[in-house]
Amino acid sequence: MSVKPLREGGSAARIAVIAGDGIGKEVTPESIKAIRAVLSRKGPSARRPIEFVEFDWGADKFLREGVTLPSGAVEMLSNEFDAILFGAMGDPRVPSNQQAADILLGLRFKLDLFVNARPVELFHDRLTPLRDRTTDDVRFVVFRENTEGLYVGVGGFFKKDTPDEIAVQEDVNSRKGVERIIRYAFEHARKNGLKRVCMSDKSNAMTFAHDLWQRVFKQVRQEYPEIESRHLYIDTLAMEVVRDPRQFDVIVTCNLFGDIISDLGAQLAGGLGLAPSGNINPGRTSLFEPVHGSAPNIAGKGIANPLGSILASGMMLDFLGWKEDGDRLRAAVRAALQENFVTPDLGGEKKTVEVGDWIAERGSAAKMSS
Ligand SMILES: NC(=O)c1ccc[n+]([C@@H]2O[C@H](COP(=O)([O-])OP(=O)(O)OC[C@H]3O[C@@H](n4cnc5c(N)ncnc54)[C@H](O)[C@@H]3O)[C@@H](O)[C@H]2O)c1
Repeated sequence: MSVKPLREGGSAARIAVIAGDGIGKEVTPESIKAIRAVLSRKGPSARRPIEFVEFDWGADKFLREGVTLPSGAVEMLSNEFDAILFGAMGDPRVPSNQQAADILLGLRFKLDLFVNARPVELFHDRLTPLRDRTTDDVRFVVFRENTEGLYVGVGGFFKKDTPDEIAVQEDVNSRKGVERIIRYAFEHARKNGLKRVCMSDKSNAMTFAHDLWQRVFKQVRQEYPEIESRHLYIDTLAMEVVRDPRQFDVIVTCNLFGDIISDLGAQLAGGLGLAPSGNINPGRTSLFEPVHGSAPNIAGKGIANPLGSILASGMMLDFLGWKEDGDRLRAAVRAALQENFVTPDLGGEKKTVEVGDWIAERGSAAKMSS
């Protein structure tokens, strides 16, 4: 296993960096630069030792050595690191996508990262495809169950590659798994002063798995009487999020529906280049990544938008208990969007590194205006 310490430190927060493939390798260094800048700024609250350790896991290593997630990696990450900053996985030279499945899905399952948090926040009016909507109208978070459902890989084929073939994919929902993600959503609302939680399922058709979701939701909501709780079938939720996103503060749902509805949300807030996510187990090593993939069509050109990764870094700083610093990163991103200092995907002409430099400079200023 190749370990490259970037900075030695005693009681430092330790961050494992897995940049991965394609543009993951381009945007992740910009995030590290932005984090370092924010944490090292001058002023009364300047401090925070942090240590980054890079891991070269991804397609190159897989093609070179046949290794995806090295043995002992999960234990090492779990025991020695506070968080993981992740880039993206995916390389056309590996059509099976084995390194992505083993590394990213492997870490989500093996580290038991049961919360997939996908904030949807519109930072500038011009970025939403919705007519007449402003930054005040699009601000909610999707909590997707991240370790169960249809993604556990339980199933099989019968009479494969024959005209009579049957494929079965099981939807696995445990009471423990459903309860902890629903409770996390309510706790998040309570801690952040948010008024509304919407649970979404398809219990009218999925009468066993989502009956469990219904029963657990009705039980857990009773513990949060101050929060307005609501249920919508997933098809209705998809319509309502587009019709009037102002209705939502917190959405909680299963793995498959969360995957889809959070991508819909990402588009409402400016698209893939701006969407961050956290794969979280509170109090344990958690993983933060941009939502986008490795974008082979633009990899190596230096034009990938680093803002999704930088916003994911902001979530990581929140997770480490450094919300003020996370807020500074978000404010710097908002300022870059206001000043249109952006990459071509958002209509600008700036390079990845230029945007990263700009955010770092803005984030390290002792005072910020926005
Ligand atoms: N979490 C992950 O690691 C992850 C997520 C999605 C896809 N993937 C993998 O990534 C590879 C490519 O998948 P895809 O093309 O479907 O999705 P993608 O997210 O890589 O790209 C989709 C489109 O969005 C653009 N785009 C994405 N991120 C951008 C950014 N930061 N700046 C500017 N433009 C950006 C791309 O150029 C492309 O046109 C595949 O191997 C896929 O499996 C990985």
